[in-house]
Amino acid sequence: MSSVPKTADDFNLEAAFRDSHVADVLDQLDSELVGLAPVKTRIRDICALLLVDTVRRQAGLSTEALSLHMSFTGNPGTGKTTVALRMAEILYRLGYVRKGHMVAVTRDDLVGQYIGHTAPKTREVLKRAMGGVLFIDEAYYLYRPENERDYGQEAIEILLQEMENHRDDLVVILAGYEDRMDRFFRSNPGMSSRIAHHIAFPDYTAAELLAIADLMLDQMQYQLSADARTALEEYIERRQALPHFANARSIRNALDRARLRQASRLFAKRAASLARNDLMTIEAADIKASRVFAETPPTARQGELHS
Ligand SMILES: Nc1ncnc2c1ncn2[C@@H]1O[C@H](COP(=O)(O)OP(=O)(O)OP(=O)(O)O)[C@@H](O)[C@H]1O
Ligand SMILES: [Mg+2]
Repeated sequence: MSSVPKTADDFNLEAAFRDSHVADVLDQLDSELVGLAPVKTRIRDICALLLVDTVRRQAGLSTEALSLHMSFTGNPGTGKTTVALRMAEILYRLGYVRKGHMVAVTRDDLVGQYIGHTAPKTREVLKRAMGGVLFIDEAYYLYRPENERDYGQEAIEILLQEMENHRDDLVVILAGYEDRMDRFFRSNPGMSSRIAHHIAFPDYTAAELLAIADLMLDQMQYQLSADARTALEEYIERRQALPHFANARSIRNALDRARLRQASRLFAKRAASLARNDLMTIEAADIKASRVFAETPPTARQGELHS
């Protein structure tokens, strides 16, 4: 191709990677987020795509603006919001968006109650999100076919337009449950066709949830006693079986309550000389006092032990 002025050796992907400082964010993603292997792989793929695009531009090759709008599907507490924040940072470091901030909204932030209110609301949100990521949680609530005159449709149309017009400076991420999102995309082919990347967030395994607990405790400078660890394993098994289980979010809530019980326990004793270790350690009783143990039958493993 005569329009390509340089030889292949002049284009340095490694240098583009280094200059972007995106490696830090990717390393953090690996070390600070447990599991999520398929999600991490997809993010690396998107990084590769953007880096190659940068180098293609240096090589004078065609660089049609990439469409990077995404959908993040998964159950509550699987890390969608957390990963979206990292994604905003990555897109910023790779020079895809100017600012790298994230604006998180739901239907109520976009759709008005009265005629004429929706367009200004949606446009205001889009203006705030420009240069970064617009994260729309439970995006399917925008579409309510059962209401004959639903203003959600108006918001969707404005979003579609702006997603196309500002595709080089705005990334829209639609998040929610997988089945409802599938239905939403089937009813809104226009939206579906603008979403280039569909990323599914799997539920965490019990082992991953325990690792997430360890990570969270470590970040808060707490630790589990050996018995507390066993209690937490059992807690996780029981909690997973209860309604409204919300993956990592349920773990965070359980740890918050355990900290509360630990504090009450220490306070009740009013010890005059506490060891640093006492202040850090969650004991089995701090976990076992949870209503989850009262509300569920013993787990299979417990049953075996006692039979
Ligand atoms: N893989 C993980 N490793 C460590 N912590 C995690 C992981 N996934 C989620 N968390 C933590 O769990 C909590 C819930 O995560 P997040 O809010 O990102 O989930 P979500 O999918 O957006 O949930 P929702 O659907 O309820 O909004 C956060 O405190 C987050 O830091
Ligand atoms: Mg969320």
